[in-house]
Amino acid sequence: MPVENSTRPLFPIAVLISGRGSNLQSIIDAIGRRKLEATIAVVISNRADAAGLIRARDAGLETLVLNPRAYPDRPAYDRAMVDALRARSVDLVCLAGFMRLVGPPLLEAYRDRILNIHPSLLPAFPGLNAQRQALAHGVRITGATVHLVTAELDGGPIILQSAVPVLDGDTEESLAARILVEEHKIYPEAIRMTLAGGWRIDGRRFVRPSESDKSA
Ligand code: GRF
Repeated sequence: MPVENSTRPLFPIAVLISGRGSNLQSIIDAIGRRKLEATIAVVISNRADAAGLIRARDAGLETLVLNPRAYPDRPAYDRAMVDALRARSVDLVCLAGFMRLVGPPLLEAYRDRILNIHPSLLPAFPGLNAQRQALAHGVRITGATVHLVTAELDGGPIILQSAVPVLDGDTEESLAARILVEEHKIYPEAIRMTLAGGWRIDGRRFVRPSESDKSA
């Protein structure tokens, strides 16, 4: 349910992090600039030492640490996550460097309402160290992808992508830094598109409203 303010509804979203939180910051900034009409209901981390929690607190956001060790197994952890999200009426869950696999309890409770950002042009280089994988493979172009989360690792319908050239002198760090610039542009925009609605899933494809209109 959107939270009404005086002018228009704001959709409560949650951002899940494990570390630095630069994508979280890009979402906070997009909301601040009113490029994204949403409200961050809670920032959740699986690690108490995630630097992104400081960014969240600095922005006046509620933070919550869910430590996996406090739960007997993964489904119990995921159920606790669902409870925390529902308690805050969260509409959309945004994984932003959240270094845990999402299991069935969360996937089922938030079907087609969980987004993730990945530092490659999926389906190339899923999983860990995507920038290292791209350099090792020798591709000339890589990039960033925002996709819906499904049970398939980094395999859900693609919402937005941005390409980044690999330069001859690139290191993993220099390439990651250039990809990150694009991540910070496309993640808030993908959240905006998803919240705006009107899209549908056709097989693997995330079909935007204008595309649906054309094919109708
Ligand atoms: C980003 O590269 C993102 O694509 C990947 O994890 C990293 C998180 O960075 N999933 P940050 O914590 O948002 O700075």
